[in-house]
Amino acid sequence: MRARFDPTGPLHGSLRPPADKSVSHRAALIAAMADGTTTVTGYLDAADTRSTLTAVSALGARVDGAPAAEIAAEIRIEGVGMRGPRPAEVDVGNAGTLLRLLPGWLAGQETGIWTLDGDASIRRRPVDRIAEPLRRMGARIECREESLPPLRVEGAPLRGISYEMPVASAQVKSCLLFAGLLAEGETRVIEPHPSRDHSERMLTAAGAEVERDGDAVLVRPAGRLEPGRIVVPADFSSAAFFIVAATIVAGSEVTLEGVGLNPTRTGLLGILDRMGADLEVSEEGERGGEPAGRITVRSAALRGAEVGGAEVPLAIDELPLVALAACFAEGETTIRDATELRRKESDRVETVSEALRSLGAEVEASPDGMRILGGGLRGGAIDSHGDHRISMLGAVAGVASREGVEVVGMEAAAVSYPGFEADLATLVGG
Ligand code: S3P
Repeated sequence: MRARFDPTGPLHGSLRPPADKSVSHRAALIAAMADGTTTVTGYLDAADTRSTLTAVSALGARVDGAPAAEIAAEIRIEGVGMRGPRPAEVDVGNAGTLLRLLPGWLAGQETGIWTLDGDASIRRRPVDRIAEPLRRMGARIECREESLPPLRVEGAPLRGISYEMPVASAQVKSCLLFAGLLAEGETRVIEPHPSRDHSERMLTAAGAEVERDGDAVLVRPAGRLEPGRIVVPADFSSAAFFIVAATIVAGSEVTLEGVGLNPTRTGLLGILDRMGADLEVSEEGERGGEPAGRITVRSAALRGAEVGGAEVPLAIDELPLVALAACFAEGETTIRDATELRRKESDRVETVSEALRSLGAEVEASPDGMRILGGGLRGGAIDSHGDHRISMLGAVAGVASREGVEVVGMEAAAVSYPGFEADLATLVGG
């Protein structure tokens, strides 16, 4: 599907972005592991998180109610218990988080065989990053060409290990924490830099023993998890499109409501602040163990910045938007230490630099990031390459450009944000 986004003038108004994708995936998985019924309020209604509900149903969990865009919509998930998932062929669709988290739970089952497979993009996403440490724990796990889906997991007894992750990855960490719940002894995951900690928070709320010890997270075995009530905040990563749009389109003022403000997710705010953005953040308490609140953004003149190191995992899904903001900043912006960007729904170093270049920006890709020179965007056409975040990046680029942008493959937005175009139209007054 092709969609055109023309320069509109300032963005105004307030809205609540859709529910958090990372939190929703974990809510469905942890509810499925629990003994009893968990109520999830505000579960994300999008393609990726529907894949997770289908997956937990295939494993034997009972899902009542369908996810909906309304903030108060509830679904109920009756879990199968830590040792209850039945053998299944699981279709993860486009969901990398489901692909990487679920095997941790399955690998420690006493018996059973599971396969996990998905769409063409999923078949290019590496899984050796989970297969290798899971095997060290005793797991029986096979993948195509040693590193790619489909993945075959056979239940086996696991033992706790201490594992130093070569790159900061919340997906790998969460997978090993799930496996650790079923392993003998303690499992310790050491992170090179902190990554998002939604799993730790939600497992703790479900009664698991999870602790942080410096740069390590430890988990002890748990025979059962308690069901409960999970409330999902709005997704900071979805809010990020409007945070950047309102920053770069002169005269804008936008407020995003109910947004998850977990500091392991909001690295973009620190980066934009350094670039000179006008941001007002007010935390309004916790939603389901996650801090949440409102963010007001006014347009501002930006300057280039250096981005790298520990802030990369805290802003990993927003780095494409940092590159877009950099096109509107004075001077040069450099993004480093972000090789992981090449392993996302697309190779985002390539897809972002190709997209921005084709709109008239001066962007140079490097093995671990990119260098962007400010100067505004002319406009033109971009291809989403089936990547939801690239399609929405193209839309924001269009609104901020001089001549407008046509996005080929706009339908990809439905993976995380089905109502994106309508919400953008509301803010630009269309
Ligand atoms: C996610 C973790 C990140 C992120 C992805 C969602 C999660 O991936 O890019 O969109 O929910 O745990 P990595 O853990 O591979 O960095």
